[in-house]
Amino acid sequence: MKPKSSPYVPRPATLVDKKTLSDNVTLFEFAQDSGKPLAHRPGQFIQVSVYGVGEAPFSVSSPPQKDHHHFELAVRKIGAVTNALHNLQVGSKIGIRGPYGSYFPMQKFVGQDLLFVAGGLGYIPIRSVLYYMLRHRDEFGQIMLLVGTRHPRERIFTDQLEEISRRKDVEVLETVDEPDENWKGNVGVITSLFPKIMVNSDNTNVAMIGPPVMYRFVIEECSKLGISQNRIYVSLERRMKCGLGKCGHCQINGINCCIDGPVFCYTQIANLPEAF
Ligand SMILES: Cc1cc2nc3c(=O)[nH]c(=O)nc-3n(C[C@H](O)[C@H](O)[C@H](O)COP(=O)(O)OP(=O)(O)OC[C@H]3O[C@@H](n4cnc5c(N)ncnc54)[C@H](O)[C@@H]3O)c2cc1C
Ligand code: FES
Repeated sequence: MKPKSSPYVPRPATLVDKKTLSDNVTLFEFAQDSGKPLAHRPGQFIQVSVYGVGEAPFSVSSPPQKDHHHFELAVRKIGAVTNALHNLQVGSKIGIRGPYGSYFPMQKFVGQDLLFVAGGLGYIPIRSVLYYMLRHRDEFGQIMLLVGTRHPRERIFTDQLEEISRRKDVEVLETVDEPDENWKGNVGVITSLFPKIMVNSDNTNVAMIGPPVMYRFVIEECSKLGISQNRIYVSLERRMKCGLGKCGHCQINGINCCIDGPVFCYTQIANLPEAF
């Protein structure tokens, strides 16, 4: 009898392309070598093994692909695994497990407007949802994208954002906390963009990802616009190990972020002060 494969054993993938996005963030394109296709949903994450170094969770930044074998990760260099990833050359092998976790309810968004709120690296997973919607543009209503970054040098995917902002069917607004001498756009935290948008609150859902400190303030702005909490979706990042709801590393008050999240409707976590 063929032995059952363990969910802890990674599948091999090959680095096929690598592009610098900012001083410490790189976009990686991988192709899966074998095993079941990735088939992720927007908002899900995978566990990535850099052989001999360790394993870490990353959101899949690309939208689901037709063949489900190619996928993109955008990774900030911060410690052992992420530094090792940045040092990989095209052709190098990694291991992947997943996809894991909850995802944005794309079917619920059909026929409705979507307001994206992306703070800093939060744009990485938002990008998967956004490009999914752009590929199925006719199915969705108005799309608004608010992007906030600390400093212009930390902006990522700038060419793609410029391209999207030229489209007539997407409204893109960007801000930075601290401008440099070349910055001509809005200055201020991401909530400073809210007075510039108009939404139909009965038909608008919100997908928000960024530093947890941002969430409370953005939710206040959404409530001023009349958007109810059951239309707001957030992603929570916690230290994850197994990704399978077994080890407890990612728990917040009994909730396992790896399987119950990372994407939550705000009403699921509104009463969990530890979440933010
Ligand atoms: C669901 C999920 C999706 C993620 N998606 C992305 C992504 O798309 N791109 C990306 O760049 N990063 C993402 N991260 C964060 C990424 O997993 C960590 O940066 C990575 O684990 C760091 O590993 P390391 O070995 O390089 O650093 P380590 O040596 O493990 O840590 C370096 C520093 O980062 C801190 N740190 C590590 N992990 C976390 C964490 N989860 N939360 C807060 N602080 C942490 C440590 O305390 C330490 O100060 C995601 C995390 C989660 C849980
Ligand atoms: S990472 Fe192990 S329970 Fe969530």
